[in-house]
Amino acid sequence: MTMNTIDEDGYELWLRYRPVDNAERLAQYRKAISSAAVLGTGATAQIIRSELARALAALLDSAVPLPVNPVGNALVVGTIDELKAVGVTIPSAESRDLGAEGFLIRSQQVGSDNWICIAANSAPAVLTGAFHFLRLVQTHQDIHALDLASRPRIRHRVFGHWDNLDGSIERGYAWRSLWNWDELPEKIDSRYHDYARACASIGINGTCLNNVNANAKSLTAEYLVKTAALADVFRPYGIRVYLSPVLSAPVLIDSLATGDPRDPAVAAWWKEKVDEIYRLIPDFGGFQIKANSEGQPGPQDYGANHDDGANMLADALAPHGGMLLWRAFVYDATIDADRAKCAYKEFVPLDGRFQPNVFVQAKNGPIDFQPREPFHPLFGAMEQTPLALELQVTQEYLGQSIHLVYLAEMWKEILDSDTYAIGPGSTVARIVDGSVYGHSASCIIGVANTGSDRNWCGHHFSQANWYAFGRLAWDYDLSVEAIADEWIRMTWSNDPLVLDAIKTMLLGSWQACINYMTPLGLHHMMQAGHHYGPDPAFNSARRVDWNNVYYHRADTKGIGFDRSSAGSNAVSQYHSPLREQLNHLDTCPEKFLLWFHHVPWDHRLQSGHTLWDELQHRYDAGVTFVEKMRSIWQSLQARIDPQRYEHVSRRLEQQLENARLWRDVCRKYFGQFIGNADSGAPM
Ligand code: GCU
Repeated sequence: MTMNTIDEDGYELWLRYRPVDNAERLAQYRKAISSAAVLGTGATAQIIRSELARALAALLDSAVPLPVNPVGNALVVGTIDELKAVGVTIPSAESRDLGAEGFLIRSQQVGSDNWICIAANSAPAVLTGAFHFLRLVQTHQDIHALDLASRPRIRHRVFGHWDNLDGSIERGYAWRSLWNWDELPEKIDSRYHDYARACASIGINGTCLNNVNANAKSLTAEYLVKTAALADVFRPYGIRVYLSPVLSAPVLIDSLATGDPRDPAVAAWWKEKVDEIYRLIPDFGGFQIKANSEGQPGPQDYGANHDDGANMLADALAPHGGMLLWRAFVYDATIDADRAKCAYKEFVPLDGRFQPNVFVQAKNGPIDFQPREPFHPLFGAMEQTPLALELQVTQEYLGQSIHLVYLAEMWKEILDSDTYAIGPGSTVARIVDGSVYGHSASCIIGVANTGSDRNWCGHHFSQANWYAFGRLAWDYDLSVEAIADEWIRMTWSNDPLVLDAIKTMLLGSWQACINYMTPLGLHHMMQAGHHYGPDPAFNSARRVDWNNVYYHRADTKGIGFDRSSAGSNAVSQYHSPLREQLNHLDTCPEKFLLWFHHVPWDHRLQSGHTLWDELQHRYDAGVTFVEKMRSIWQSLQARIDPQRYEHVSRRLEQQLENARLWRDVCRKYFGQFIGNADSGAPM
């Protein structure tokens, strides 16, 4: 066993590049990479060169020469055109298949030398390929006879920051914003480059810099220059910048009389603003906007509708190739008394009325980033509109940066869910990638969990969610195990014992969180405001659907929200046969039971338990798993560097305490409805 005593603070993420400690592999790598030639000369090629220099020297524990032309057994890295100039021809059909962002990695004999070629159609795609190759080395893969090609399934893969201009982060749990607006554009923090490196290494190609609850100031000339400075940093990494505007910006910035999107003066203002942005940032990605939601202004304030607002902005962006992400996170209580139904009812009738560069952006589920939700019924309901999928990487409702919860499994469940929109196999993933309805545009956006905490995410294990978001956005067919495997090897160790142990922790963590917080389809039971910790009794909010009792509806008869055809009929927003399956108590998957049904306490579940017993069993199972994670972690002490070990240990203690609290509070609260208030553990 190798003792790991070198302190690490987590800053390096999964790009630690520790020496390969597998002798056989190391020998193979040293033999295969006697030099590394990066053929290009532009800014991206420079980045690739310095990344390879730094990574290979560290991984192979000896400097690798980086000559202009390949020498000996070489890594040869460049665009397809650059490779041609050194005698490597990629057939045009293959090159076409790669598209703008795909890459290939191929072993090739050239004279008496063996080359490993990394090739793509653009320099940023070559960078993605270079990071992929480094991943193979970091995870100790066999690089003999490589022949692989990869291209993203989803075109726009955006990391969305809910960062405010004052440096605070809405739902941020890793300290302050990474963007230092006061110092920009003069001072370029080296961390911006490290952020871009990390994003590029996992295929993220967009970053939306500011909160969806937006400050109009971000669109002023003063701030656009700052945004342009960040865009300049990110560009060579293949990352485009997006902004969240506020629809009332013309009123707030230039005192226009109205923000009504149908007013020609308003449209002209936006057109001019967008032109100004593109003069500064020619590859600006576009806007993500929250409108008529939770107090944000929107077209409905002026008697117009979502499509009026969206199309006006889209028209301003279209000449520049910009896109518009119009969020569907709306829940106007006058639309429907069941919050879960509102967005569908507002947006489905608008299908076909949006400009081609508009995405309607829906969260994964119909409520709000709960520990588990069924997929949002908008997926599969808007044939003529590309839908962007919004995931939340930051764990607002899942224990924030205190709880260890690996979210890849949740996202995978959503992506793999069958909407049945055009028959079996119409998965959410295939709605989002455009293939179900033949859209060429596709977008996925993750609410970022990064901040200026030294370890980026607050919890060392939250880095896994940033990593998994990028990897799944690139290829949703990757398994959660495979992603976990890569991340653990790169972030912690290739030691099989560490690998297995951490994998067990990761792969059980989401289910554990659901169990101790909101088992069997329960949802929205967190304390108001900060959304951390349990409060099933909460019933004093301004809006009825901000109360937790609105969601669980526990009474002496049973518990759960009746969304069946006998209740709110939210099930009708799903396609057959899913609709019928969800509608019936006996066929509704137990994981969504209390999401769709109000169920008697003595109802028997598949386990043979009554509902009440099963709930208690789930709470216990959740807590037990956190105990297990703690003991697994303790068993790794000698194999993990002390600083990260201690940090995670402290977090696990807090998580355990909190999981017990969830169990005890919920048991006691729900127990009162069956005359069993004391059935829980003492509080
Ligand atoms: C949640 C979250 C808010 C956020 C909102 C949104 O409700 O608590 O902070 O603004 O989602 O997605 O717009």
